[in-house]
Amino acid sequence: MIKKVAIIGAGVIGAGWIVRCLAHNKKVIAFDKDIKLKKKLLSEIKRTWPYVKKLFNKKKLNLKNFKFATSIKEALKDVDFIQECVTENYKIKINLMSIIGKYSRANAIISSSSSGLLPTKIYSKCKNPERTMIGHPFNPVYMCPGVEIVPGKKTKKKFLNETNKFYKSISMNPIMVKKELSGYLSTRLQEALWREALHIVNEGYASTKDLDRSIEDGPGLRWSLMGAFLTFHMAGGKAGMKHMLRQFGPALKLPWTKLKAPKLTKKLSSKVIKGTGHQAKGKSVALLSNIRDKYLVNLLKMRKKYENKIRN
Ligand SMILES: NC(=O)c1ccc[n+]([C@@H]2O[C@H](COP(=O)([O-])OP(=O)(O)OC[C@H]3O[C@@H](n4cnc5c(N)ncnc54)[C@H](O)[C@@H]3O)[C@@H](O)[C@H]2O)c1
Repeated sequence: MIKKVAIIGAGVIGAGWIVRCLAHNKKVIAFDKDIKLKKKLLSEIKRTWPYVKKLFNKKKLNLKNFKFATSIKEALKDVDFIQECVTENYKIKINLMSIIGKYSRANAIISSSSSGLLPTKIYSKCKNPERTMIGHPFNPVYMCPGVEIVPGKKTKKKFLNETNKFYKSISMNPIMVKKELSGYLSTRLQEALWREALHIVNEGYASTKDLDRSIEDGPGLRWSLMGAFLTFHMAGGKAGMKHMLRQFGPALKLPWTKLKAPKLTKKLSSKVIKGTGHQAKGKSVALLSNIRDKYLVNLLKMRKKYENKIRN
C-alpha cells in the first residue's frame, strides 16, 4: 500500500496534491527548487483546509505528516510514490526524471502531472521506465476527482494498477487511457474549445465575458453530470444519438469551427488579459479561488446524489 508520497514541484498543482494527500492521511514530503515556497505552501494548505475538510468529512489537519525537503535526494528517500509537478517543458522534465530515477527506490512509482506531454519522451532518460506514467489531475487537485493515467511504451501494467488503486485511495476517479497521445483526453477537448474562443475574441465577435457566459449558463451546467456524448444523445429526442447524428451530422461539414490556433499576437493577448481582468472585477485570485472552492464543495456533494443514477 502506498503510504509515503513525494511531491516534486510545489506550485499550483503540487500544492493541490499535497493537500489531497494530507487529507487522506498520507505522509507527504515536498521539494521545489524554490526553497522560499515553503511559507507560501503552508498558507495555501491552511486556506484550502476548510473546504477539503468539508468535502471529505475530515476532522483535523495533521501537519506532522508534512515535510518540506531541502534537497531532492532527501525528498526521494524511502518514498513509495512520486508525483512530479514541475514546469511543463520537455527539457526540464527529462532532466528531472533522470535524477528522480537515480535517487528513488527502484520500484517506487513515478507519475507526472503533465497536461499533455508524451510519457515515453519525458522518461527517456529515467532508470526503470516500467514504473513510470502520467497522472494528469485537474485544478484544484484537492477538489476535482478526475485524473488521467497514461502509460508510456515501457510502462508495466502492474504499476498502472497500483497507481489506479492509490488514486482511488485518495478519493479520485482515475481514467485509464489505453495508450499515449499528446494532450491525453481532456486537454485535447479543452484545447479545441479554447482555440475557438480565441478566434472569436480575435475577430471581435464577443467579449471574454460573453464567451464564458455561453458555457456557464448552457453546456457547462450539463457537463459536470454528463459529457458531450451523453448530452448529445438527449439532444436527439426519443431516438437519441441516432436522430442527433441524422440531424446535426451535416453540420460537421459547415464552417462552424476553425480549430487551427490563431496567432497569439500582442493585440489578442491584451484583449484576453484585459477581458478576464474586467470579469474578475478587482477580486484577487485568492478570493476567486475561495469562492470557487466553496461552490465546488457544494456542487460535488450535491452531484453525488445524481451521478450514481447515471453511471451505474
Ligand atoms: N495549472 C494547471 O491548471 C494544471 C492542471 C493540470 C496539470 N498541470 C501540470 O502540472 C505541472 C505543474 O504546473 P503548475 O501549474 O503547478 O506550475 P507552477 O508554475 O505553478 O509550478 C511549477 C513549480 O515547479 C518548480 N520547478 C521547476 N523546475 C523544477 C525542478 N527542476 N525541480 C524542482 N522544482 C522545479 C517551480 O519552482 C514551480 O514552483 C505541469 O506539468 C502542468 O502541465 C497544470
